[in-house]
Amino acid sequence: MAQGAAGQNVAPGGDHGGQPPQPLQAAASAGLKGRMRPPGDKSISHRALIMGLLATGRTSIQGLLEGDDVLRTAEACRAFGAKVERLAPGSWLVDGMGAGSLLQPPAPLDFGNAGTGTRLMMGVAGGHAITATFNGDASLRKRPMRRILDPLVLMGVEVVSEAEGGRCPVTLKGTAVPAPIEYRTPVPSAQLKSAILLAGLNSPGRTVVIETEASRDHTEKMLAYFGAKIAVTPDGEHGRRIELEGRPDLRAREVIVPADPSSAAFALVAALIVPGSDIVIEGVMMNPLRIGLITTLLEMGANIEQLNARIEGGEDVADLRVRHSRLHGVDVPAARAPAMIDEYPVLAVAAAFAQGETRMRGLSELRVKESDRLAAVSEGLNVNGVTNRIEGDDLIVAGGDGMVRGGGMVATHLDHRIAMSFLVMGLASVRPAAIDDVGMIATSYPIFQSQMEGLGAKFGKPSA
Ligand code: S3P
Repeated sequence: MAQGAAGQNVAPGGDHGGQPPQPLQAAASAGLKGRMRPPGDKSISHRALIMGLLATGRTSIQGLLEGDDVLRTAEACRAFGAKVERLAPGSWLVDGMGAGSLLQPPAPLDFGNAGTGTRLMMGVAGGHAITATFNGDASLRKRPMRRILDPLVLMGVEVVSEAEGGRCPVTLKGTAVPAPIEYRTPVPSAQLKSAILLAGLNSPGRTVVIETEASRDHTEKMLAYFGAKIAVTPDGEHGRRIELEGRPDLRAREVIVPADPSSAAFALVAALIVPGSDIVIEGVMMNPLRIGLITTLLEMGANIEQLNARIEGGEDVADLRVRHSRLHGVDVPAARAPAMIDEYPVLAVAAAFAQGETRMRGLSELRVKESDRLAAVSEGLNVNGVTNRIEGDDLIVAGGDGMVRGGGMVATHLDHRIAMSFLVMGLASVRPAAIDDVGMIATSYPIFQSQMEGLGAKFGKPSA
């Protein structure tokens, strides 16, 4: 991704279609050492821009993730009328339009690889009397949008057109008076919950979303921070009921974005599996709905120490000291999935190095991510000599107790997390592990390679 100088606006990359794939391999590395701070959280970065668009006044954002996904959302905010400006790396300003006052985008919105940007913005557009078209790359065009369109239609949004099976390109005609609805989400999805809440902002009544399993709560927290009246109460054993009063007066705020735990996950697992490693990952967001991976790794015997726990930008954060550890297999309950949904690929890599079997339960949502991650992870393990099987929605990985053969070329299927996870595997496998394309890593973690190299990771061109 272009690293523009201070004052310049950086632009998202292309949809990657035209560029030749760039393979990369990772080879056994000496113990990883040093300190690093991963870039800003992707979920919060999208939401900070969107809240800036929907508030009145000037929102300033520090630590924004400048990955392609988030840059697409910044472009979409501009298309809806906001002035979005980059002052310096990670430091951005949004002059908002105010909820209810967005402009009709002049052209179809291209979200590239970004499911979060697409789905949240569908909610935003749905609550306005404007027509907008949502599109993206080949991966995004395979992802289900019906789950978002169903509640929006109940609120009065018209789906003008959609590709087969409720997929992008989707054209929506929103409504200036969204009906207040009470909606129980059929899948634990923060994107779905957020789309409904964002559409409900312009509703004359109260919008209620009930989730059986709590998903990440950044939208709720940020809505409250920008001045909305929103109440969150427990519902059932793991669920939540969220009630939002429509038509709040949203006022611009300053947002500080903590480091992304989903990006930190790669260095974290790398340090656990590479013998001799001892690293510190700084400023990692420890929101309880995002740290299922850390809970699981601790159960597996990982040596992860939380240092300097503090609050930054309204979120719990800590520095994590991580040392090489002998891991053992565990049984990961399905109820934990929402708190680590993006971390299963890298957990599977940790499981491959553990002693004994790891069973990860209830992974149906992995099939509809940037790729079918359940299949992609299983294939990636296979080509690197790791015994694994899929039983229903569970993935079972047989650990090699510190020994993984490697030597495989992993198909990344336009999926950044598959790419980074298998590069991590190669840092500790006997033979190097390669991926077919690094291109998509820039969607969420453009400085992955340089940060990992800073810790001592060995990457290079795979030999033909
Ligand atoms: C996200 C929610 C999750 C996650 C995605 C980011 C968000 O998706 O996988 O990377 O920011 O709301 P789902 O809501 O589909 O589970």
